[in-house]
Amino acid sequence: MKKALILFLLTVVATLHSHDVQWEIYKSRSLPELSHIDGWCSQDKAQNMMDLIYATHPQICVEIGVFGGSSIYPTAKALAYQKSGVVYAIDPWSKEDCSEGYTPGDPNYEWWNSVDLDKIYRNFIQMLKKHHLQHHCVVMRMTAEQACASFVNETIDILHIDGNHSEESALRDAELYLPKVKRGGYIWFDDVNWRSTTKAIEFLSDYCDEVPEMFANNCVLFRKR
Ligand SMILES: C[S@@+](CC[C@H](N)C(=O)[O-])C[C@H]1O[C@@H](n2cnc3c(N)ncnc32)[C@H](O)[C@@H]1O
Repeated sequence: MKKALILFLLTVVATLHSHDVQWEIYKSRSLPELSHIDGWCSQDKAQNMMDLIYATHPQICVEIGVFGGSSIYPTAKALAYQKSGVVYAIDPWSKEDCSEGYTPGDPNYEWWNSVDLDKIYRNFIQMLKKHHLQHHCVVMRMTAEQACASFVNETIDILHIDGNHSEESALRDAELYLPKVKRGGYIWFDDVNWRSTTKAIEFLSDYCDEVPEMFANNCVLFRKR
């Protein structure tokens, strides 16, 4: 009887271990592709985003600010691994919205006005097709403000705020979408080192706890209380 119990426990441990090994292999095969996708998501951040999905099994993820999809890719890849869940990819891919809050002469204004956002959008759609990720990604070509009404309060498991970084836009995204996130749900917030994102960070800090072990490349993870 005792022998059978030990054998059973060993089998459970081995099975659990083999799941984690398969996950590590899947990640290590997925992450090198990031270097071919337009955007700013680092390997460390992408790895953390994937691990959070593996650990928490979300069904509804939302990203504000997609660009070429470098942070949608790890999210959708992790959802594909668990064979369920969707990430809503919200971005207007428009110069006007990217320039909001910046004045001519500001490097942000000049940069966003020099990018071919239609081309970035087309490459993003191609990337989803190439990696068979369309079933795990709903593309919403509109502003975060316009998309907001599509989400019921307290339904989002994981939110990623990485849209326009001007003070007004970053704060507006945080204020509009915090109610949409479940209690206990997660919020990634990128570029916490920008002075213009301080107000948004302070706002989120009033309602969420930080998860310091998931900090990578100026991207902080909050958990809603
Ligand atoms: C910093 S980039 C996103 C980077 C991307 N998450 C990555 O990791 O590569 C910011 C994006 O926000 C988008 N954006 C600008 N205004 C927006 C708005 N009002 N709502 C949603 N997205 C917006 C821009 O089109 C741009 O693609």
